[in-house]
Amino acid sequence: MSMIEIKNFTFAYESSGDYIFKDINVIVDTDWKLGLVGRNGRGKTTLLQLLLGKYEYRGEIKSTVQFDYFPYAVKEQHVLTIDVFADICYEEEWKIKRELSYLDEKEDILWQMFDTLSKGQQTKVLLAALFLNEGHFLLIDEPNHHLDKETREKVGHYLKKKKSFILVSHDRYFLDSCIDHVLSINKMNIEIQIGNYSSWLEHFKNTQKKELSQNEYIKKDMARLKRAMLQTRQWSNQVEASKIGATDKGYVGHKAAKMMKRSKNIEFREKKALEKKGQLLKNIEVTDDLKMNYVKYHKDVLLAVKDVTIMYDSKHICQKIDFTLHQGERISIEGRNGRGKSSLLKLIMKEDIAYEGDIKRGSQLLISYVNQNTDDLSGDIVDYVHDYQIDESLFKTILRKMGFERIQFDKKIEEFSKGQKKKLVLARSLCEKAHLYIWDEPLNYLDVYTRQQIENVIKEYQPTMLFIEHDRFFSDEIATTQLRLEKNNNKNEKNVANMHI
Ligand SMILES: Nc1ncnc2c1ncn2[C@@H]1O[C@H](COP(=O)(O)OP(=O)(O)OP(=O)(O)O)[C@@H](O)[C@H]1O
Ligand SMILES: [Mg+2]
Repeated sequence: MSMIEIKNFTFAYESSGDYIFKDINVIVDTDWKLGLVGRNGRGKTTLLQLLLGKYEYRGEIKSTVQFDYFPYAVKEQHVLTIDVFADICYEEEWKIKRELSYLDEKEDILWQMFDTLSKGQQTKVLLAALFLNEGHFLLIDEPNHHLDKETREKVGHYLKKKKSFILVSHDRYFLDSCIDHVLSINKMNIEIQIGNYSSWLEHFKNTQKKELSQNEYIKKDMARLKRAMLQTRQWSNQVEASKIGATDKGYVGHKAAKMMKRSKNIEFREKKALEKKGQLLKNIEVTDDLKMNYVKYHKDVLLAVKDVTIMYDSKHICQKIDFTLHQGERISIEGRNGRGKSSLLKLIMKEDIAYEGDIKRGSQLLISYVNQNTDDLSGDIVDYVHDYQIDESLFKTILRKMGFERIQFDKKIEEFSKGQKKKLVLARSLCEKAHLYIWDEPLNYLDVYTRQQIENVIKEYQPTMLFIEHDRFFSDEIATTQLRLEKNNNKNEKNVANMHI
């Protein structure tokens, strides 16, 4: 057991005026399985990068462990997977195979080219290789994106058996499955707590509830004190007036002194109440309702996909997809990694993908599309607004409601955190006038508060949608229909959207 000590720690990016961390003090035991949580842009990735020694800071980080970061940047991807292992850790082959088996992965993949593995397999390989380096402390930054539900569960089980890591994730189930401590970057401070995500959340909500009722009490108390103060002043004025011509000056003087004491007392209590009030609700997260620009299409059927087969390099990746999208329906496209879910959406968006079959879109159908990938976003917010021809003030209002600080609007989009970039594209989509929203993994990188806001706005407006989302919570709540893509061996079998929820 050893400790990582972060003392009197302050950091700001050179290009921006706001502090990410100010006078922070944290101690972490290296045996912990520590979940790192906080809203998008609070500095989770930055903290991990600081531990890796990437930036200069004021204060101290004391530790004796070696830090490793996930996602690990594999320099040469077009090599055998066994060579990727060799690049990261020096372990014997049998140990590597055993580690892969813990993740339910077959040893055959060691002899496959790394760049031909699915995203899920690549994640498993990199985690296994990093954990094989005994004594290292892992900084795992959002490992579960693009992983299907089954793989998420497996990776969660694997992490539960490990220790000595910090895990950043916004997936509630995933965190609960594997952590024993939580480090939360709140609005105004940083806290450490024992337990998993759910116990942390319960404690956080209880604290907010208690502070809200204390706040109410103080507000009432202050109103009472104000009334008392006014009355004391009135009495005091009356006593002053009665001094003129009074025969018993001693009595009146005594009464005036008593009045003064009472007034000082009230003033003191008011000051204390104000101080106490200032300490409350600093960390409360506001999640106002969002709006969307959904319009109903003039016909019942928006889209008809008939016997569509998607092909890559003349290989069929998914055969005979068959469904019709009706007004108000929300189809969740399900299926393992690599089944062609994103390709199907791209195809509907008329991207150049080889296919057979028939796709009919309604005439003059307005579609708002959110792509899975936000890595290429760059430039200023104003240019972004201009490119998409959306209402700037509505766009900024939505972003503010999603937790953006005003200062963020002046930043370059390439400097945004991953979650902030995702918020940008979702806010854009909500601003766009559309009959149909096509969203490819909308919740990736989003903090839990914004996930909830997105869920709420969909429940309120009931738009027509086609989406892919691995967050079970969301798809269960939002979808009206499921379309499960399977790699069917039988050519006559169809992938149909037939399961109404
Ligand atoms: N290279 C950079 N230059 C300037 N500002 C940056 C840079 N990288 C990040 N930031 C800013 O620092 C803040 C913290 O970013 P960071 O990526 O650490 O957030 P995060 O908590 O990991 O968010 P997310 O949950 O979205 O991943 C954000 O406001 C972001 O805009
Ligand atoms: Mg991050």
